[in-house]
Amino acid sequence: MQLCHVDRPAFAQLGHHYAVFSLLSELSHFYPDIERWSASKVLPGLLDDTRKILVEQDAGGVRGFAILKRGVVERKICTIWVRPDLRCQGLGQSLITQSQEWLQCVRPMLTVPEESLSTFRGLLASSDFKLNEVVEGYYRPGKKEYIFNGALLSASERAVLQ
Ligand SMILES: CC(C)(COP(=O)(O)OP(=O)(O)OC[C@H]1O[C@@H](n2cnc3c(N)ncnc32)[C@H](O)[C@@H]1OP(=O)(O)O)[C@@H](O)C(=O)NCCC(=O)NCCS
Repeated sequence: MQLCHVDRPAFAQLGHHYAVFSLLSELSHFYPDIERWSASKVLPGLLDDTRKILVEQDAGGVRGFAILKRGVVERKICTIWVRPDLRCQGLGQSLITQSQEWLQCVRPMLTVPEESLSTFRGLLASSDFKLNEVVEGYYRPGKKEYIFNGALLSASERAVLQ
C-alpha cells in the first residue's frame, strides 16, 4: 500500500494503526478504492479526530478492527472486520459497542457488501440496526451494497463532495 506521500509526523502518529492499514487490501475486492480512501480520508481524519480506528490485537497480530467517522452530519462505521478464525466469539459485538460509544450514536450508518451480509445478520439484528436501502453498483458494477441506519450519497453529490 502506498503511504509515501504522508509526512513524517503523521506517519509517526499512525503507530499500531499501521497494521490495520496494511490489512485493508484484504477488503479491496469489496471496495476497489479502499487504499486511496484510507490514505486520503482516514489518515487526515485520525489527525483531526473526526476518524478513529479501533483495533483488537494480540501477539499474533490484528484480531479485528473498526474504522469510524464522526462527522458533523454523519456518524458511521466505515469498515468493521474480524479475523475469520476468530468469528462468532463476540469480538464483532464488542467492536460495535465500542463504536457506538465513540460515535455517541446507537445506530451509526454501516454499509455491507452482498457477499458479507450473511456474516453480519446476527450482529445487526442484536444491535437493532435498520436496513434503509439496497444500492446496486455503488462501489462495484453489478454488486449490491446494503445500507443500514442511513443513506448513501447520490452520484451527483459524490462528485461534488469528493
Ligand atoms: C461481521 C463480523 C464483523 C462479525 O464478527 P464476529 O466477531 O463473528 O461477531 P460476533 O461474534 O460478535 O457475532 C456473530 C455471531 O456470533 C454470535 N456470538 C457472539 N458471541 C458468541 C459466543 N461467545 N459464542 C457463540 N456465539 C457467539 C452472535 O450472537 C452472532 O450471532 P449469529 O450467529 O446469529 O450471527 C465478521 O463476520 C466479519 O468480519 N465479516 C466480514 C466483514 C466485512 O465484510 N467487512 C467489510 C464491510 S464493513
